Amino acid sequence: MEQKTVVLGISGGIAAYKAAEVASSLAKSGYEVRVVMTQGATKFIAPLTFQTLTGHPVVVDMFAVPPIWNVGHVAYAEAADLVLIAPATANVIAKMAHGLADDMLTATVLATKAPVLVAPAMNCNMYLNPAVQHNLSLLQQRGFHIMPPEEGRLACGTTGPGRLASPEKIVAAAKRLLHPRTDLAGFRVLVTAGPTREPIDPVRYLSNRSTGKMGYALAKVAAELGAEVTLVSGPTALVPPAGVRLIEVTTAQEMLTAVLAHLNTADALVMAAAVADFRPRSYSSEKIKKKGESLSLELERTEDILEQVARRKKTGQVVVGFAAESSNLIVNAEHKLRRKRLDFIVANDITRTDTGFASDNNEVKILWPDGRVEELPLALKDEIAVAIWERVLLRREEIQAASAK
Ligand code: CTP
Repeated sequence: MEQKTVVLGISGGIAAYKAAEVASSLAKSGYEVRVVMTQGATKFIAPLTFQTLTGHPVVVDMFAVPPIWNVGHVAYAEAADLVLIAPATANVIAKMAHGLADDMLTATVLATKAPVLVAPAMNCNMYLNPAVQHNLSLLQQRGFHIMPPEEGRLACGTTGPGRLASPEKIVAAAKRLLHPRTDLAGFRVLVTAGPTREPIDPVRYLSNRSTGKMGYALAKVAAELGAEVTLVSGPTALVPPAGVRLIEVTTAQEMLTAVLAHLNTADALVMAAAVADFRPRSYSSEKIKKKGESLSLELERTEDILEQVARRKKTGQVVVGFAAESSNLIVNAEHKLRRKRLDFIVANDITRTDTGFASDNNEVKILWPDGRVEELPLALKDEIAVAIWERVLLRREEIQAASAK
């Protein structure tokens, strides 16, 4: 196999020492690793460490006269199959988001055509600062891959999100980008995500706490695996994944219409949306005024989208549902699996605070019609999405094998 080159950019934060493990692991896996450090990074860990681990000199100064080898300021950008920035400080993230190129690391990022993976690490207040979040979402919109930091005790003594993702996770994500899989090439998939909103009057609505992260991860990963993806999304604050056809809806009724309109041409449907089960029976076109001490709203059932889909499903189509439960997870999920005639159901416990709504992580169980229950370990929603698509393919092959008999 042709040797691939990873340009590892290290910026100046305490987590810079963890980049040594990343460099070492990538080099041991057979990649050519070229390290670029910012001046700040060299205050935390010596370039000699990386030179020793990778067998190549480390570049810091954009204007240094190269002693023995030729490193023009864009040489690494051109040689890279992947540019990995770990750790990425708030400052480097801001420079990348705004196209600055005042050192070798940012010049490389600006000049490369290779995928860029960014692993932020910083104090949690800095990480949560709207400026940093905005810069990260700008990078995401441009197709950069972000490896979210973990929560925990940070070097500065505070606790929260900001700790560099573990070297194993960073290396695994890098490998996924270096060897893109095409398992879903030629596959057309329909994914739903987010909550729905059911209007009460011009200013109010009924909705739920879904952020859409799981559905967006499913759409993003399916596109990365080569599928043609249609994402039907309720209102969310998320950036639509690159290369995905987005259909925005608000109500359960609109989601039903959009799903049915695209069902026929889909090989698989994954319903990750948290569809409202009830809507106000009547909509008030005037803002409802407060009269008296209480107000009763009469609600009516919305259509169950998956039940409608079950009636129209073509042979060979794979249909997957989700069950978010606060009690009796397995029993409730199993009931939904049967009632909605699903190929499998992904169940998660919403009483946990470290997974589910708004989290980047999830821990799910997958229930199959034959009674099997698979427990997937706690993982990033992107990783759960990969596991779900692998099972969709497996199920598809089973159906095809059965119909060929
Ligand atoms: N779902 C749907 N249409 C609805 C409600 C839910 O298609 N009107 C889908 C969801 O997208 C999810 C699955 O059904 O994939 C289970 O959703 P959930 O809300 O957990 O189940 P419900 O059938 O609504 O049951 P309950 O609310 O009583 O738990």
